[in-house]
Amino acid sequence: MLRRLHHEQPEGFAFTPENLEWAKAQISKYPEGRQASAIIPLLWRAQEQEGWLSRPAIEYVADMLGLAHIRALEVATFYFMFQLAPVGSVAHVQVCGTTSCMICGAEDLMAVCKEKIAANPHELSEDGRFSWEEVECLGACANAPMAQIGKDYYEDLTAERLGEILDALAAGEVPAPGPQNGRYASEPAGGLTSLAAHAEGRAPHNASVALALDKRDTIKRIDGSEEPLYTPWRDLSHEKGDAESDPEGPVLAPERPADETGIDRREAPVQGRGKPATGEPAPREKLAPEPPTEPGAVAPGAEPPRLDSPRDDAADDLKRIKGVGPKLEKLLNGLGIFHFSQIAEWSEDEIAWVDYHLEGFQGRVLRDAWVEQARLLAAGGETDFSARAKKGDV
Ligand code: FES
Repeated sequence: MLRRLHHEQPEGFAFTPENLEWAKAQISKYPEGRQASAIIPLLWRAQEQEGWLSRPAIEYVADMLGLAHIRALEVATFYFMFQLAPVGSVAHVQVCGTTSCMICGAEDLMAVCKEKIAANPHELSEDGRFSWEEVECLGACANAPMAQIGKDYYEDLTAERLGEILDALAAGEVPAPGPQNGRYASEPAGGLTSLAAHAEGRAPHNASVALALDKRDTIKRIDGSEEPLYTPWRDLSHEKGDAESDPEGPVLAPERPADETGIDRREAPVQGRGKPATGEPAPREKLAPEPPTEPGAVAPGAEPPRLDSPRDDAADDLKRIKGVGPKLEKLLNGLGIFHFSQIAEWSEDEIAWVDYHLEGFQGRVLRDAWVEQARLLAAGGETDFSARAKKGDV
């Protein structure tokens, strides 16, 4: 099947405030310069919010991550988990059509979908509330045939049972997912043949079903209030989505990310490229102008004292400075900067010189107050960040 963007697209897309907060916290999970790694969770969240992935949604996520739109489009159109066309407003039914399920009756299940939803996969039902498709193995082969509806699996299905489930969904109910033939999990249909004692006193549902019943979000659109994303690596508050309120908030993809593969270098200025209609992504860090590349260009400022190698062959761990990750430490070492005491002495002119040479990270020295941090560390003190790093909390 060709995976193409739908011919009708909405005007724009924006995360709900809660989902935006969640997305920013998600981005903060990745190391500096690698924010693009958050693309799949963010696309998935956009789909969970809207039901499907529109072009504005894909471009919105690309903009959040500082990616060229084509990079996000490549991901969204490659993975079948992403729906590129509108799905039923109540439920999208994904019937597994791979070997085990096919042998056990998947075709009967698809016949029910054709009868009750629409003649063709990816076609909306007349009332727009349901849609269906055939998918490849969903990994529940021992409970074949099965279908994923919304976020949960309905297993050990018969055509009759699937029909009942669709009727219940149409009536506003959400039947319990999991095995539909009385099985607890994927034990033999006739009951346990070993470890039978484990059947006594067990919870009424297996863990997967219990979780689904607990969350009650099988076919519900995600608006951000259901799934707290804890970011203890940021402030230990264990509060949801602290990224927005944290003044040291997540560093969204900079103008020129650290990734030397070029995979996440943007190909065009962000402005004018599919800016979402509402709820803009967090503004990117304002970066200093990039160094001129013409031959003979002169670095601004004044060159600071530099070393050929660390004193006593023992460089300081510059990553104890908040804002300096492994990539920046390597860049600094390459410039002959190995010690806190060197950074502690930088003048404004020297900061300008260093800044010019930190390609892709311009503005970080001042933004994160490296000099002030380095003075404390050079004197044997600790910053909040270095103290937490020492305890392994960051
Ligand atoms: S074959 Fe259907 S879940 Fe694996």
